[in-house]
Amino acid sequence: MSRPIVVDSVASLRTQVRGWRREGLRVAMVPTMGALHDGHLSLVRIALESADRCVVSIFVNPTQFAPTEDLDKYPRRLARDLDQLATAKADLAFTPTVGEMYPAGFATRISVGGPSAGLESDFRPSFFDGVATVVAKLFLQATPDCAVFGEKDYQQLCVVRQLCRDLDLPVEIIGAPTIRDAYGLAMSSRNAYLGAAELGIARQLNVILRKAALALAAGSDRIDAINEANRSLITAGFQKVDYVEARETQTLAPWRQDRPGRLLAAAWLGNTRLIDNVEIPSA
Ligand code: PAF
Repeated sequence: MSRPIVVDSVASLRTQVRGWRREGLRVAMVPTMGALHDGHLSLVRIALESADRCVVSIFVNPTQFAPTEDLDKYPRRLARDLDQLATAKADLAFTPTVGEMYPAGFATRISVGGPSAGLESDFRPSFFDGVATVVAKLFLQATPDCAVFGEKDYQQLCVVRQLCRDLDLPVEIIGAPTIRDAYGLAMSSRNAYLGAAELGIARQLNVILRKAALALAAGSDRIDAINEANRSLITAGFQKVDYVEARETQTLAPWRQDRPGRLLAAAWLGNTRLIDNVEIPSA
């Protein structure tokens, strides 16, 4: 089993990718914050179906965390991540330091409009600026032909698509289906924070969302279906629901019954915030 090349500088990353390009190879990128799980590995698999080489970045990006959030506690497991990337046949792991990505004097921020409005932004106001800034940097550093993002972070996927469209970044964005455990819980690095009892509650999130999505598809009143989902989440044991919202699939504008839709939610279990989303089936 061959190990991925590991580089931590932008210069080495560029040299490696330039070499592949000279050979006429197509390059895919999977941006991650590490603590890799089956969800990430599925992104690598999809990347390698679309390209000859796959670059995976592992960087816990401080600019997308608010001061009150879990930056310090975010799981970091580089050695294990590299073993998993070897199994998944990723070609290169880019593991920059914070200083490499944000050298002293760094003063630029990218703010994407459109799909970033509401949902996550209502609760994490600077999150998407941090994501857009680091993703733009990663794309300019690695110059991939395509990049794969999971639908688990559905709003992020829409924001990255908007970013590439608006800034003419020549990167094809591929959305990948959410990988779930046997109970439907979406894979997330933050699931590692959950104890056994919390895991049981967390597994209700997708069940409740699916039920609400089916009710919406069957013509239930939007507010009633969403209120019912909120109530069910609290009854299941979630302490707080940040939002359950029905949005249009592409633009994330408020959903109308005749349009393709997505039901998105964020809820708290103790100190852990979980997000998930499901398609509203077409009637
Ligand atoms: O989804 C993530 O892990 C992060 O938001 C990303 C896209 C790697 C940017 O830091």
